[in-house]
Amino acid sequence: MTNSDKNSRISGFYDLPLEQRHAELAQRGFLDPDDFPVLEGQGGLTIKQAQHMIENVVGLYSLPLGLALNFTVNGRDVIIPMAVEEPSVVAGASFMANLARAGGGFTAQTTPPEMIGQMQVLDVHDLNQARQNVLDQKADLLAEAAEIDPILKKLGGGPRDLEVRLIEESPIGAFLVVHLIYDVRDAMGANAVNTACERLAPQIETLTGGRVHLRILSNLADRRLAKASCTISLSELAFGDFSAEDVRDGIIAAWAFAAVDPYRAATHNKGIMNGVDAVVLATGNDWRAIEAGAHAYAARNGRYTSLSKWGSDAEGNLVGELEMPMAVGIVGGATKVHPGAQVALKIMGISSANELAEIIISAGLAQNLAALRALATEGIQRGHMGLHARQVAIAAGARDDEINRLAQQLVTEKTVRVDRAKAILEEWNEK
Ligand code: MEV
Repeated sequence: MTNSDKNSRISGFYDLPLEQRHAELAQRGFLDPDDFPVLEGQGGLTIKQAQHMIENVVGLYSLPLGLALNFTVNGRDVIIPMAVEEPSVVAGASFMANLARAGGGFTAQTTPPEMIGQMQVLDVHDLNQARQNVLDQKADLLAEAAEIDPILKKLGGGPRDLEVRLIEESPIGAFLVVHLIYDVRDAMGANAVNTACERLAPQIETLTGGRVHLRILSNLADRRLAKASCTISLSELAFGDFSAEDVRDGIIAAWAFAAVDPYRAATHNKGIMNGVDAVVLATGNDWRAIEAGAHAYAARNGRYTSLSKWGSDAEGNLVGELEMPMAVGIVGGATKVHPGAQVALKIMGISSANELAEIIISAGLAQNLAALRALATEGIQRGHMGLHARQVAIAAGARDDEINRLAQQLVTEKTVRVDRAKAILEEWNEK
């Protein structure tokens, strides 16, 4: 089955037992039977592999991996794996993806995978002259940088540009910053960019007469952007006692709050990152890098604001848009080493880092919509409570069939607390 034949709607998936969920995925061509042991924790990341990844390893750390269904991204159906501990994230994304389907799903684009490497040049006598010297030698410097990584060169990546910034004032006085713009293709790019900066530093010192201090990539990857948009048909928005217009206008008003107020924008963007980070983590990518880039980008105009925008089109439909840096890779690092990350990429049928970025940004937009829709209508707690109650039930010691039964009772009683859950379990055990 080709990627384009796959359907991301699997009705009743939520209610299926684990084995049947796996069977559905195999039957629909998303995964093979060999992949399931990896997902179940056998055949996944081994302690041996882990010991090669970081220092002082004493064990492995697990998180639930859920699948967000119903997504269509750029006309292709995709199931999105999410590694996350928070209830409602997977369900919220799946539900919003279903609403977006009627309007064609998500449309996403990326800029070329260009990262920025920074070199901080100190002790420069004449900053303007030094800047000019570097710019005069730009072609030679780029040609030299192009030879540093032959594999990247073969794949069509490598240096694209060199910029010199003059920092007039800082706690240590003025200095120069050289930016090396580097196309890293399907890699996250930190290694390639850091290596290139370290290699170019001696020439930069000769040209500027200064001393190159830091040589490191910037996580404000504002040349490697991903953007997603979606249209939610007005007719999809009404539910319960809420009219479609009220839901649409409520979502737009919620966004307007985040657009002007950093206190709200931080929470609004956190909701976006619920979706983004879960996929970044599932695919073995560096979620701290993505977080850093997201929030720096949200403050790029000097004031922290919303990463997304919501409005309406001429027909009154709800339209949303999300743009942020998306430095993710599909080669190298944990993505290659972690068997779970490989399975995650396989489920999505990913063939390039840009394609992964387009799916992640779509998940972020869906997640933002899920949060705003809930907040603008019945409030976030209602939806959260059922799922939260299950975690409370487990924390209180409920097992197997008891978990759902206890969670339901806690919600009915409107007392979702561990002490109450324990008391109910005791009552049941006494019977
Ligand atoms: C909770 O994890 C995320 C939300 O707070 C996001 C938001 O407020 O937009 C619900």
